[in-house]
Amino acid sequence: MNSPAHDIQLDSQGKLRHFLSVETLNREILTQILDTAENFAGINDKAIKKVPLLRGKTVANLFFENSTRTRTTFELAAKRLSADVLNVSMSTSSTKKGETLLDTLRNLEAMQCDMFVVRHQDSGAAHFIAQHVAPHINVINAGDGRHAHPTQAMLDMFTIRHYKGDFSKLRVAVVGDIAHSRVARSQLHALRTLGTKEIRVAGPKTLIPSELDHLGVKVYTDFDSALDGVDVVIMLRLQTERMKGALLPSADEYYARYGLTTERLKLAAPDAIVMHPGPTNRGIEIEGLVADGPQSVILQQVTFGIAVRMAVMSLAISSTEISQAQGKFA
Ligand code: NCD
Repeated sequence: MNSPAHDIQLDSQGKLRHFLSVETLNREILTQILDTAENFAGINDKAIKKVPLLRGKTVANLFFENSTRTRTTFELAAKRLSADVLNVSMSTSSTKKGETLLDTLRNLEAMQCDMFVVRHQDSGAAHFIAQHVAPHINVINAGDGRHAHPTQAMLDMFTIRHYKGDFSKLRVAVVGDIAHSRVARSQLHALRTLGTKEIRVAGPKTLIPSELDHLGVKVYTDFDSALDGVDVVIMLRLQTERMKGALLPSADEYYARYGLTTERLKLAAPDAIVMHPGPTNRGIEIEGLVADGPQSVILQQVTFGIAVRMAVMSLAISSTEISQAQGKFA
């Protein structure tokens, strides 16, 4: 694990400056994000959902890859913090005319942007950008390749804590295409750092990466055994766009073995919650009745995502403001 001094995400005081991955962050910082999000969740329930924390700041959403939930909730989060938001559609930007990514960034810096929210198809892209931006700019990773999706993992942790409380008492199963999922990677790190009692992973052998052992997770290829008594079931989408070669049986066979049906869900604890980062594929990884059923908190995840993104943005901006006030950058 990186020491705080070497973690590019942290400033010299150990505060969050960029949010790129949960992997190197400690329990204190993850808990601070969850606690800060708790305050913002309260604001989001009010008639006037705005606070002035990012007034005068400009946030640029740089999405090189498609997204619905993540982009819109980042936009709402920034707006509820009173920031100005630029949605730069990278698929139609000048990087398509041969301009390098760094030139595009320099231009956005010249427009006095304060924060870049980056989604990119390549693992490490947000990290690369964080290494090259001007010192006053904060970078938030909104998903990079199959590497990390830290705000998704934190909104998932927020949802779990909201419904189930103390992580040290919980059995959590993460199910499906673990190998290609940046969400799963970030979730497993966050669950471990937050002290989850038991973390299970289930899916076909071809979709379970070999490096899971060091994360202290239990691996199951039999979904029914993995579900036995769990408090939280997190289903994942098959990331077919990232699969090379035949890693899967047919969709029907996958659903028969790994689909979360009403019948199967009975194997979990009676009050287990069902989660999914979206987009859901009904009839492939989850039955429609389960996705819409009383144990599903899939839409609540989306709502909490706004508060968690507000928390991450405000923590990052406040670390930069403190550095600026002190006349230094980390
Ligand atoms: C995920 C993603 O893009 O990584 N979705 C999301 O951000 N809510 C998961 C997925 O695409 O399956």
